[in-house]
Amino acid sequence: MKIKPEDAYLDLMKKALTFSLWPEPPVPIDTFKYGGSPIKRLILWFLSHISRILRPTPIQLVKQRTFTKEQRDEGWGWPGYAHSMIGLKRFDNIRYCVETVIRDGIEGDLIETGVWRGGACIFMRAILAAHGVENRKVYLADSFEGLPRPNAERFPADKGDTHHIHNFLKVSQAEVENNFRSFGLLDDQVVFLKGWFSDTLPKAPMTKLAVLRLDGDMYGSTMDALKNLYPKLSKGGFCIIDDYHIAGCKKAVEDFRAENGIRAELIAINKNDAAVYWRKE
Ligand SMILES: C[S@@+](CC[C@H](N)C(=O)[O-])C[C@H]1O[C@@H](n2cnc3c(N)ncnc32)[C@H](O)[C@@H]1O
Repeated sequence: MKIKPEDAYLDLMKKALTFSLWPEPPVPIDTFKYGGSPIKRLILWFLSHISRILRPTPIQLVKQRTFTKEQRDEGWGWPGYAHSMIGLKRFDNIRYCVETVIRDGIEGDLIETGVWRGGACIFMRAILAAHGVENRKVYLADSFEGLPRPNAERFPADKGDTHHIHNFLKVSQAEVENNFRSFGLLDDQVVFLKGWFSDTLPKAPMTKLAVLRLDGDMYGSTMDALKNLYPKLSKGGFCIIDDYHIAGCKKAVEDFRAENGIRAELIAINKNDAAVYWRKE
């Protein structure tokens, strides 16, 4: 069997970034807990800090987790250790979109709005590297402090949204830079746009985009990205919507497409139309 070097590299990157090569290790018990009564939270806090209390005995209470192949493929469930939560099918879609714009000579840079630990952007940079592309940049737009509180005045569809309470979604820029560094991919083709999308995207420095990947979960985050960046997307470029299964995000996409007369076919990336994309006509 003859394997092309770029296939071998990108396949390995995809599996490493999604943590698909290894069984899921247990996570500390307070990793995903946010709500509950004050008593429950106090007990949880006590149990999760027991190692410090018992110091120097290195004990940590952890929770066992397993991911099936389907969960890894689809990107279901928040992974404890992967560099990206989007799963293998969405990685394949990123590769398809980036390689298509390279092959077809569609001008522009690549951006993801909502990067978390940076895995999807690391993969974009790896694809450029695998094809020796030096004239495109990968932009990472994120607060690097989680999702915003809903602004129901500007975006009524976000009323009551609770994404902002999840500490798990708060990943610093330093941590993401470190993740790029560990794969040898942090260089001047990687640009960070730190801040809320409503502040950073109106003045985003690129003039043309070839791939626009939206992963901000909320109506407002999706709409801010579409309004500010879609006009920069070249004809023949790709618009990828990661969160189409989330009602607010779906509504933002439908509103934006209707307001702008966009009729390009929406193509499903994985089951239940969880993520979709279209090619700009
Ligand atoms: C679901 S995570 C992204 C997952 C990531 N694409 C991956 O490959 O795993 C959502 C990210 O969007 C960011 N985010 C959402 N809305 C934002 C906004 N309005 N401004 C800045 N960052 C935002 C959060 O900080 C978080 O890192």
